[in-house]
Amino acid sequence: MFEALFSPVTLGALQLRNKVIMAPMTRDRAGPGDVPTAAMVDYYRQRASAGLLITEGAQPSPEGKGYWRTPGIHSQQQVDGWAMVADAVHAEGGLIALQLMHCGRVVVPANRGFEADVIAPSALPCPDKVPGPDGVPAECASPRAMSADDIEWTLDVYRQAARNARAAGIDAVELHCASGYLINQFLNPASNQRTDQYGGSPAARARFPAMVVHALAKAIGADRVGIRISPGNPYNAMDPANPAPSFAAFLDALTDLDLAWVHVVDMGLPDLDALALVREYSSAPLIANNMLKADSAEALLQAGRADAVSFGRAFIANPDLVERIRSGAALAKPDYDLLYTGEERGYTDYPAMAAAQ
Ligand SMILES: Cc1cc2nc3c(=O)[nH]c(=O)nc-3n(C[C@H](O)[C@H](O)[C@H](O)COP(=O)(O)O)c2cc1C
Repeated sequence: MFEALFSPVTLGALQLRNKVIMAPMTRDRAGPGDVPTAAMVDYYRQRASAGLLITEGAQPSPEGKGYWRTPGIHSQQQVDGWAMVADAVHAEGGLIALQLMHCGRVVVPANRGFEADVIAPSALPCPDKVPGPDGVPAECASPRAMSADDIEWTLDVYRQAARNARAAGIDAVELHCASGYLINQFLNPASNQRTDQYGGSPAARARFPAMVVHALAKAIGADRVGIRISPGNPYNAMDPANPAPSFAAFLDALTDLDLAWVHVVDMGLPDLDALALVREYSSAPLIANNMLKADSAEALLQAGRADAVSFGRAFIANPDLVERIRSGAALAKPDYDLLYTGEERGYTDYPAMAAAQ
């Protein structure tokens, strides 16, 4: 049973003991200064039997923060906090990648707790509301269109964040290019209406995103850099129409890099086989995600459509998801009301099977 899921796989510099990856999930539990807490150390340690943990999105700079209590990777205290997380995961024999998430224009200023600029490809606010500090949906701020200096600055920010992650002992970084955040905002015509070399054609819209990936690869090695895309995802007011040319152009601009992985959130669109698109334009290992169960995940691996798979929600209430799949045990259901409360309840208190008995 699940022979493919439970065999090892190499993703760039990382050798995973199984192909069951924990997908990145924002949980709003960082402490003051957006520093990882002891509860976060426990949370990731509890889930370290995954082949690889991909952390919640972490902002590479103050401007990258859009949500409440998300962790950063730009201050020394944040690096020290992530080092405790990485040590705990490694002590369990696991691997951990940090997701670099710059929210771009998806910012509710009250979520930040400090003043910082709001920057995006164009001066177009995100028309969707997103949760404020009290969880109630709030208006997003109006962004400034990124200047040439902002572009250089942001490349530096990403470079330094990747170096910080490695200094913390984190094994790799994943660039969040999905779900309507900064990189996706460049790729998508709804949020990118620039008339310079960063806007217009699919190749031009992919220029800054590809520069970021190259900057990360130069900073820490392409074999420790993955990217995450969700072609056709309308989240955060992205235009879902005809995503293939934009994502093909983006992947095409990365073919000179031996990336560790391309992580694909397959939206299940009737007119787009997102996994096949990525196979066509990239030779990097492919991680498939979205609504997978052990059976469907194994089938994707057996068919060669993916090299590894990730599970998000199933990991919330099943810290030992790997063992549960292996033993055919039933999966516990998470309490969705406790996703973003900031408390330890609904976070670190889901028991592993042995403890539940
Ligand atoms: C609570 C929660 C937080 C999430 N936060 C992130 C995030 O920070 N970065 C990201 O790329 N995806 C995020 N996602 C999306 C998940 O990584 C994943 O794509 C989604 O849950 C679908 O996979 P699943 O069906 O296995 O849950 C989040 C999902 C959930 C449920």
